[in-house]
Amino acid sequence: MTDTQEGQQQAALSLQRLWPRLEFTFRDEAGVAPADWRAFEMRLRREWERLFGLLSGLYGGHYNFSYHLEELLGAAARSWFARPTWLKQLDARREANPAWFQSQRLVGGMCYVDLFAATLHGLRDRLPYFKKLGLTYLHLMPLFESPAGKSDGGYAVSSYRRLNPKLGTTEELAALAREFQEQGISLVLDFVFNHTSDEHEWARRAQAGDQEYERFYLLFPDRTLPDAYERTLREIFPTVRRGSFTWREDIHRWVWTTFNSFQWDLNYANPAVFRAMAQEMLFIANIGVEVLRLDAVAFIWKRPGTSCENQPEVHQIIQAFHSLARIAAPALLFKSEAIVHPDDVLSYISPQECQISYNPLLMALLWESLATGEVKLLDHSMRRRFRLPQGTAWVNYLRSHDDIGWTFDDNDARWEWIDPSGHRRFLNQFYTGRFPGSFARGVPFQENPDNGDARISGTLASLAGLEQAIQSGDEQQMELAVRRILMLYSIILSIGGIPLIYLGDEVGTLNAYAFASDPHKAGDSRWVHRPKTDWAWRERVQEDSSSPHDRIFTELGRLIGLRKQQPAISDGETEFVETGNEHLFGYVRHGAGQRLFVVASFSPHPQEMDANLLRVHGAGYRFTDLITGQTLTAEQPLRLEPYQCVWLEPYSPPKVSREPGERGT
Ligand code: GLC
Ligand code: GLC
Repeated sequence: MTDTQEGQQQAALSLQRLWPRLEFTFRDEAGVAPADWRAFEMRLRREWERLFGLLSGLYGGHYNFSYHLEELLGAAARSWFARPTWLKQLDARREANPAWFQSQRLVGGMCYVDLFAATLHGLRDRLPYFKKLGLTYLHLMPLFESPAGKSDGGYAVSSYRRLNPKLGTTEELAALAREFQEQGISLVLDFVFNHTSDEHEWARRAQAGDQEYERFYLLFPDRTLPDAYERTLREIFPTVRRGSFTWREDIHRWVWTTFNSFQWDLNYANPAVFRAMAQEMLFIANIGVEVLRLDAVAFIWKRPGTSCENQPEVHQIIQAFHSLARIAAPALLFKSEAIVHPDDVLSYISPQECQISYNPLLMALLWESLATGEVKLLDHSMRRRFRLPQGTAWVNYLRSHDDIGWTFDDNDARWEWIDPSGHRRFLNQFYTGRFPGSFARGVPFQENPDNGDARISGTLASLAGLEQAIQSGDEQQMELAVRRILMLYSIILSIGGIPLIYLGDEVGTLNAYAFASDPHKAGDSRWVHRPKTDWAWRERVQEDSSSPHDRIFTELGRLIGLRKQQPAISDGETEFVETGNEHLFGYVRHGAGQRLFVVASFSPHPQEMDANLLRVHGAGYRFTDLITGQTLTAEQPLRLEPYQCVWLEPYSPPKVSREPGERGT
């Protein structure tokens, strides 16, 4: 018998034993809702072989494996029975159309509830705003209970079931999720599953000496193991504390803390941790969340002698979570937050693991090209690394609540005759404004005194030059800054995948330096791009059509509307093409009977592209630039203004109407 046959047989035998026990446990619920029970059974049987294989691979050797397995299935069944009807209907719709998230109609936004709208109520009142902008996907930054002053912006979670009381209640969030879904906006929440806050009940019990909960974390009596691990670990927050461990005087233990010292890494080698977190995941799904952002995925499995990032078990764990979700919350999608080497980023993306993923490489290289004015590294890297498996998509973004790290591949850089470490130093100099002639106003994040590594904080507008231009009152610089911002947006809106806007950036919000006087924030420069939304200011600038902020907002809204009308942007592939000009980035999208040729200039000067290339890549002689509405022919070279981006469609006679009402829905 082969290993596969052996595995299949074990899975089948295991289910033969478990199923009657489950039927017995849930006889009452199944009696009340027989159709639900049948649906559960069908999905469980469909998933079982995979789920069993993953879990027995991870935990099969554990003394209590079958106990954990039975408890896990019980939890999944309970969660399915508790799943609201409207979500079960959504499950059915998503199962019938699994490619829904590939549509060009999707546009994402992300914000902190407290900073954007104070409370969930306040956020509900902003629904018209989200619709006006055209959002169909809204990521609310962590809103669960988290200790004041040591919350890492909510990423230190003390309860996955109770919200931060200042924001509202779980019931309110569930009602909001439903209302937003009815209005065409999918709710996205974080699953912060690498660590909990040191005030989570599990951590408190561990601190009280409860052995069961001590095993939930990675605690060490002395430096022997921490020292051994640290030989191969990367420091993630070196300005917070050196190394990855924190000494706790109260329990006389070193605790594994990859991020802040109050964020305790969970021990996924313990099946009880997997089971506990699976239950939290299903609870969050039942609130009405459609996309779960898997926070800090890379770090969840530790192996001596390695970087303890991207270990094979990480994939098994996520796939096991995914399989459980397929059984008990099938509408749920996973989004990977892996801000690591591009090969590792890719390793999380598949229909069976994370269906969508942040695209940190595109993000970083757009900034890289903006600094150098040249697109060679961007073009080379995208040709090699943009393509994804069927049934998955990128989430393309320019800024998020986090820093920018220069995560390009060193060999990609060398291929283009770029010295990778020197180039990273240059980029850090450029974006902190230290490089002569730089237009950027960024702030260094986590500068490592040993190796000089650093990352960059700052808002889209400040990094793109708007802050400096406004302060110097230089009209020409202001114009260039606005163009840079719109050009970058034109790319993430057309390149394929889900564009994600970090809210605040849609109006060109500038850096806010006041965080430095708050002792809980001063040590974390990411707060420079996390200001409280000033709605009075927004109203003022948006009434003033000469304001760069209003221009950005209005033009972005128009671009979003345009995107939604271009079937070529949905699904399908992106073909990166030679533009023959080092400043011009070009790609072609085709699908659903449409062809779109996008060319973006990263130069502050006018640029040209050869007419022949225009004919070849554009597949035509006459084109409409969808952005300006102008028509042009391939009799002469394509001429681009500074930082201009064009979306060229081979010319056809004007359509009578372009689906009115598309915008903002
Ligand atoms: C993720 C979050 C970041 C947080 C870290 C630790 O990277 O995006 O904000 O600091 O995880 O949870
Ligand atoms: C680093 C880590 C990433 C984390 C981020 C938080 O970039 O690689 O996973 O989210 O730091 O700032």
